[in-house]
Amino acid sequence: MRIKLDINGLKREVEVEPRTTLLDCLRDTLGLTGAHAGCEHGVCGACTVLFDGVAVRSCLMFAVQAQGSAITTIEGVTPGPGELSPVQDAFCETHGMQCGFCTPAMILTAHALLANNPNPTRAEIVEAISGNICRCTGYAQIVEAIALAAERMRGANRPKDAHP
Ligand code: FES
Ligand code: FES
Repeated sequence: MRIKLDINGLKREVEVEPRTTLLDCLRDTLGLTGAHAGCEHGVCGACTVLFDGVAVRSCLMFAVQAQGSAITTIEGVTPGPGELSPVQDAFCETHGMQCGFCTPAMILTAHALLANNPNPTRAEIVEAISGNICRCTGYAQIVEAIALAAERMRGANRPKDAHP
């Protein structure tokens, strides 16, 4: 089947089999390998992408289901070449990653959370990432990273003459 996808703001046309998962389409057909293949049956969250802004497991979706929706992968969150998003920056600063396998998914999950809740409590951050497994168990730093990113993003949106 020939399908049209909107990936990271670009229109892409690809040939897939009806049974091709969105994860395989992203990785094997489009070369977007930031979505990781972990368990491939919906448990680990490593394959997370944003589907119309909602964090979803791309191993549980068929590529054909993505027609007409906006898909964002980790390759699409940077503001420009060589730059990092505030969330990526915070992960670097707080050592929110070790081996990095879970990191793209954690960062996309954080983007989805902060888009809807700019001032999450620690419990809300923990809840948001509860579907993503970090095999290195670096959860404390990941939560710290998301809290730091939230604080900075709120600050960036504050009017210049506002009091802290
Ligand atoms: S690879 Fe999709 S949830 Fe594990
Ligand atoms: S940093 Fe290694 S799996 Fe999370």
